Amino acid sequence: MSDDIRAFRASILHCLADPGEATASDAVEYLEDGVLVVEGGRIATLGPAAEILPAVKNHMEVTDYRPRLLVPGFIDCHVHYPQIGMVASWGEQLLEWLERYTYPAERRFAEREVAERVAEDFVDLMLAHGTTSALIFPTVHPVSVDAIFGAARARRLRISAGKVLMDRHCPADLRDTAQSGYAESRALIERWHGQDRLGYAITPRFAITSTAEQLALAGRLAEEFPDVLVHTHLAENRREVERVAELFPEATSYLDVYRSAGLLRERAVFAHCLHLEEPDYGHLASAGAAIAFCPGSNLFMGSGLFDLARARGHGIPVGLATDVGAGTSLSLPVTAGEAYKVLELRGQRLTPWQALYLMTLGAARALGWDDVIGSFEPGKEADFVILDATATPLARRRLAATVLPAESLFALTMLGDDRSVVATYVLGERVWQNPR
Ligand code: GUN
Ligand code: ZN
Repeated sequence: MSDDIRAFRASILHCLADPGEATASDAVEYLEDGVLVVEGGRIATLGPAAEILPAVKNHMEVTDYRPRLLVPGFIDCHVHYPQIGMVASWGEQLLEWLERYTYPAERRFAEREVAERVAEDFVDLMLAHGTTSALIFPTVHPVSVDAIFGAARARRLRISAGKVLMDRHCPADLRDTAQSGYAESRALIERWHGQDRLGYAITPRFAITSTAEQLALAGRLAEEFPDVLVHTHLAENRREVERVAELFPEATSYLDVYRSAGLLRERAVFAHCLHLEEPDYGHLASAGAAIAFCPGSNLFMGSGLFDLARARGHGIPVGLATDVGAGTSLSLPVTAGEAYKVLELRGQRLTPWQALYLMTLGAARALGWDDVIGSFEPGKEADFVILDATATPLARRRLAATVLPAESLFALTMLGDDRSVVATYVLGERVWQNPR
């Protein structure tokens, strides 16, 4: 046994597989009094306290979080770090919102000091919300990518990000060119991809702000670097979809624009997907591409209602995402609460287990990280969060007489927020503790 071994006692909950529509199933493991043993930053073992404690308690420190819940760190499949300063901006839908609020905010990231300061704040906010991994949009500026990777590396986080590509239909001082976007992305891949827990994502903003030439060069990069992610927006807003049809008249659908450029492949993650054409579901599925489901953003921006059942029916991997600043909370449990409401409006029903899956193991699958994070399988990286479902006053009332873990979890998504996060751990080390 190495010296770097420690144990955590709590009510432990994680997904072993996709819980599907079941209310309870073998896909979820719940240990009411469990112990998680971490060695060298990785999961060593997990089991009931009565079994594990007699074997370990003389060799290692046991941190006792009972009766709190211990779950895998949350994974945000799509979020914009430069937008934390303009989150909750009033009164516009996507295209006007970008012009009025987003581009002015992103312009400031040309300055390294601004980018570094906001990246540090963003990463700390993420951890305070129990999120330990994310797929992140910076801005068009390479320094914004250096800043977010630097902040994540200092805290040993697993994240992916990449320079935003946009060479038209945006303010002139936020534009790159097809060639400069390609060259700068390549240089950033070489600098950052595979460093510690960091991975690169080729990041065209969306089809409106890239020429066909820029998308084709992004597709060339995607072919040259098959293990980096591709990350973009797809079919979020009806007027956006109409504009893409005008700009790419030869395309059979919005997704077809990306497909023609070579951007539809495994390890491609498309945010939103609210207004797809029917054949697009099959194309996403057969390519092995994933969807980031952003219910808080979709409600706030009046964009539409995601059809989770249809995506699931096609076997497309789906992960949950906050999409801040179009989303208004960095909390994935809060976002799962929004997902529940969106799906009710669709006549669909999100179980608490399915919600947990979408923000942990399902999100890890969508990003291709399920071999290393998302659950407590031995050997995986020990990123986890301690939750108190009764942290908020109304939740305390609601759960006064409750024992069922599904009820606590559901109350957490409906009545909780960052107050519900007691502590956040990355590679077995505490990186954030709630001062309350
Ligand atoms: N589509 C293109 N850019 C953006 C953005 O910054 N946020 C959202 N929600 N959608 C986009
Ligand atoms: Zn977005």
